[in-house]
Amino acid sequence: MNGNATILVTGGAGYIGSHACVALLEAGYKIVVIDNLVNSSPLSMARVKAITRQDFAFIEGDICEARTLDALFKQYSIDAVMHFAGLKAVGESCSNPLLYYQNNVAGTLTLCKAMKAHGVGRIIFSSSATVYGEPHTVPIDESFPLQTTNPYGGSKKMVEDVFRDLAEADRLGDAEFWRVGLLRYFNPVGAHPSGMIGEAPNGVPNNLLPYMLQVALGKQPELTVYGDDYPTPDGTGVRDYIHVVDLVAGHVKALHFLLDENNASGCHTWNLGTGQGYSVLEMITAFEAATNVKVPYKIAPRRPGDIPACWAEPSKAQREINWQAEQNLAQMMKDSWHWQCQNPEGYDA
Ligand code: NAD
Ligand code: UFG
Repeated sequence: MNGNATILVTGGAGYIGSHACVALLEAGYKIVVIDNLVNSSPLSMARVKAITRQDFAFIEGDICEARTLDALFKQYSIDAVMHFAGLKAVGESCSNPLLYYQNNVAGTLTLCKAMKAHGVGRIIFSSSATVYGEPHTVPIDESFPLQTTNPYGGSKKMVEDVFRDLAEADRLGDAEFWRVGLLRYFNPVGAHPSGMIGEAPNGVPNNLLPYMLQVALGKQPELTVYGDDYPTPDGTGVRDYIHVVDLVAGHVKALHFLLDENNASGCHTWNLGTGQGYSVLEMITAFEAATNVKVPYKIAPRRPGDIPACWAEPSKAQREINWQAEQNLAQMMKDSWHWQCQNPEGYDA
């Protein structure tokens, strides 16, 4: 099977999903998108169409609704699923765990049941480095133990467990139905170089780069650096930031792997990171150098739940799906800033 395959993209109107839609269309795939727009705008879909000059079906619907999925799989002949739909705010998951388990876990079960009923066994799932919890050492490879510290992370690990169990049941039963790619993202940043799609958080952002962009725009007075007493070279937290365009290229490579019948079925796990960690202070310096815009900041105590350092050992993805990140930090900063300047209010303007 090749690029003529039709891919169902759940959560395709969101930040990473919209970039994946562009990458899939540009790679020659047909796509069908389902998104309930709980954390996104339909404008992102119009922008994907404008960037690619291609059309596709968009269903405003919820993956938790079995009837919606059944109708979708009946109407379209789907070859594989890229499953981005999910809620992702760690703090909200702590105050409302039921919402997160219902949406992220139960929603995925509903999706899997619909896939099974309609004979679709290939799926790529948006997992997260959060499933490694606080690693005993860095860099982190895929064999590290899994431990989670909040319901959002718990929901990602539970869904991973479901897919591992589905693959194991196939193995025990001598079936070859499920072909699964669990992609553990490190810290996605950046935007499409057109500046037409990007991350548009609701309200005050929690994540570093979106907050930094708001400071640079003058919407927030200064950045708060959470902790300068970590056991890292400059004392601030270190993360593996990856350009979203690289990240979605990894999805297309993983999809090629799953569509190739010569490759093993079952459940495959790949870290998607650059293998390079940067501290918060290095991020500020890199942003200022790439954009010529100052980011005032103050040092504050550590943010509860944060870990000192987290970066990927990404060589398994390189070996098995022939993927590696290519874009450097300067490009991540330039593209993020380009998107933000063109869309200071996100998609709302
Ligand atoms: P996002 O919120 O921009 O996109 C998620 C999309 O899913 C949104 O458009 C939302 O409306 C949709 N959605 C949520 N629940 C739905 C449901 N029940 N039915 C249909 N649509 C639904 O988030 P993102 O940053 O693009 O993340 C995509 C995926 O990657 C998520 O599963 C997230 O947990 C995971 N992930 C994100 C990061 C990150 O830092 N951005 C890191 C690791 C993993
Ligand atoms: N930070 C600040 N100030 C801020 C925001 C963040 O100093 O205003 C620091 C944090 O303390 C941390 C680093 O910047 O050291 C990165 O923080 P983010 O909030 O951007 O990202 P996290 O690594 O905490 O978490 C993100 C997602 C999680 C996901 C994880 C791994 O929010 O959902 O990456 O993919 F699980």
